[in-house]
Amino acid sequence: MENHIHFDIAEHALMLLDQRLLPGRETHVACRNVDDIIHALKTMVVRGAPAIGVTAAWGCVLALRDVLERGGDPSRWRADFNTELDRLAQARPTAVNLRWAVERMRAVASAFQGSAAELLPRLEKEARAIHQEDIAICKALGRAGADCIPDNSTVLTHCNAGALATAGYGTALGVIRAAREQGKHIRVIADETRPFLQGARLTAWELKEDGIDVTVACDNACALLMQKGMVDCVVVGADRIAANGDSANKIGTFGVAILAQHFGIPFYIAAPLSTIDTATPTGAEIPIEERPYEEVALLNDRRICPEDVPVYNFAFDVTPAHLITGIITEKGVLRQPYTDSIAAAKASASR
Ligand code: MRU
Repeated sequence: MENHIHFDIAEHALMLLDQRLLPGRETHVACRNVDDIIHALKTMVVRGAPAIGVTAAWGCVLALRDVLERGGDPSRWRADFNTELDRLAQARPTAVNLRWAVERMRAVASAFQGSAAELLPRLEKEARAIHQEDIAICKALGRAGADCIPDNSTVLTHCNAGALATAGYGTALGVIRAAREQGKHIRVIADETRPFLQGARLTAWELKEDGIDVTVACDNACALLMQKGMVDCVVVGADRIAANGDSANKIGTFGVAILAQHFGIPFYIAAPLSTIDTATPTGAEIPIEERPYEEVALLNDRRICPEDVPVYNFAFDVTPAHLITGIITEKGVLRQPYTDSIAAAKASASR
């Protein structure tokens, strides 16, 4: 599944499979300008850290096109373009891949000497590179992590860290796909992942499409499933990993990690190096997105909380590094102490 994000050159639009409507409907949303991209990110038409980064890279292309179409003072185009990039980078706060992709695109623009019109094809080339690299990275990461998954085992995952959350193949689900490609027999338990139901709607959908054995469980069944010996290991994705290995992921992940430690079950994070933010020293500095009231208080547009009762809708939590058995990246499986293994992996990637 690699077509859920694609740039339509003839239409000058980024086409996004609308993940809000899955599994019932497969409809694409056309984003024709940077405001469309920001709206798609905020409302979670597209979501998942690497997919957010790829979408933002194409968003930078559309931002430059917006600046060109507006015309105006030709000496101001760089300032206008950078203002649009700043707006784009703020669409969601937790997934560092968003800022990572915008800064990579900004660096290309800053180094470019020519006009805005001449820059456009160069930016398109960079966005395409980010898009294609993401698929290759997920496949490398999957191969690196497949050995962590025993044959004939049940893997529990939380949220959706699959093809839909990346440009294709997935991170946590990429590891599962790679283990299966090695001939292993793998069953998956997908936590439903309240309130947006990424597990029930998206993980279950894409694994079923691939013929991978998947069962959905309520988030609050995790302790029971582990106590019954029904989970052999946990693999989840991440939205931002701090320099010390503390890892932000979908709300509820921290609880799964505590339970995994209690029951002696290995707990892995699978994420590309672009998700590791060495400028963030520990998990305490990772900003946690708070999302709209309606996502918790309404179910299928039906109110499930009494009027005037507030809700908490934190979208992410942070799992402390000491609960993480390994961080699976495209450069191999990083082990504790993460401050050292992360620094070494980042250094080898920049060589
Ligand atoms: O709010 P979302 O759906 O964007 O959150 C997604 C997650 O938490 C994923 O687990 C994470 O981004 C990793 S995706 C490969």
